[in-house]
Amino acid sequence: MKALILSGGAGTRLRPITHTSAKQLVPVGNRPILEFGLEAISEAGISDVGIIVGETHEEIRAHVGDGSQFGTTVTYIRQSEPLGLAHAVLTAADYLGDDDFVMYLGDNLITGGITEFVEHFRQERCAARILLARVRSPERFGVAELDDSGRVSRLIEKPKEPVSDLALVGVYLFTNRILDAARAIEPSDRGELEITDAIQWLIDAGDEVRSQIVTGWWKDTGRLNDLLEANRIVLDALEPRISGTLDENSEVQGRVVVEEGAALVNSHVRGPAIIGRDTRLVNTFVGPYTSVYHSCNVSDTEIEHSIILEESTIRDISRIEDSLIGKQVVVQRNSRKPRAYRLMLGDHSKIGLA
Ligand code: DAU
Repeated sequence: MKALILSGGAGTRLRPITHTSAKQLVPVGNRPILEFGLEAISEAGISDVGIIVGETHEEIRAHVGDGSQFGTTVTYIRQSEPLGLAHAVLTAADYLGDDDFVMYLGDNLITGGITEFVEHFRQERCAARILLARVRSPERFGVAELDDSGRVSRLIEKPKEPVSDLALVGVYLFTNRILDAARAIEPSDRGELEITDAIQWLIDAGDEVRSQIVTGWWKDTGRLNDLLEANRIVLDALEPRISGTLDENSEVQGRVVVEEGAALVNSHVRGPAIIGRDTRLVNTFVGPYTSVYHSCNVSDTEIEHSIILEESTIRDISRIEDSLIGKQVVVQRNSRKPRAYRLMLGDHSKIGLA
């Protein structure tokens, strides 16, 4: 059995972060999301992994390498354009051959892994096995309708008026029959070859499609609020560890990790929180559910419920909350007159001034 991770795509909902970076590499709890997927696949006993990559292929290759650090062997498959999940499957046809495979969307996070799901498929092999979860906004997802006997009868991608609250989770199990389906369908109104349409094609052709409802926590991290929630879930499970240094005026409370080379000077971190390696906090308060990645400088600042990416500098900001701050960003107060906001923001940036 193989795995196919989808890490192409455009990431429009996370702009401007995704103008320069792959959305699958945004860290939660200081670990890129993609790593959780690779780990779940490896734990399920699958070592042969294909990764679909697009424009951000170099960054993904640089991060994952040959996959050996996750106990996997990785083959990279370049998708010319993000033309849909079923198009990604077709792009991987040579790699997949006749093998069964688990398809994993690289921006999805599932606590508890996928081992049980893969085991069910191994025991009761069928053309497709999908995972479903009850959601509050089904219109943002592929949605499944079940018949009276609990079988999937219809799948619709992002319906305007959903008739069910059961969303398709980004983990699917397939035999190579899905390739026939992907070849047979037409692009949707948004111009993509949809995997939901391919699975619907299987249902209509009389192939067996089984489903299973996820009971644990699952998130598609394509949007800021979902990313912050994923960060909360990961931080809640953190093993506290202080490998950096705290001066005598600093303190940590609760579930906190301070990584190697990080330094707290007259600062206070209230967990769950993680301070990345070589990051320096000076006269700063870091509140619950905050991840500060490596090599940042934060001084005279209060920050809570946020994610800060690597090598960023934040100076003298009284309070930051609910924020995602990119790499090498500088946010600082200055005393120049006239007093004004002086901004250099990337395209599609969002700022909320107090
Ligand atoms: O997260 C679950 C949802 O994922 C399902 O409920 C939907 O049925 C399914 O279509 C998908 O919807 P999204 O709109 O969230 O898909 P997104 O465009 O974000 O792509 C998911 C992953 O696949 C992401 O890591 C990017 C990658 N991708 C996407 C496309 C369209 C590719 O590698 N190639 C592509 O062509």
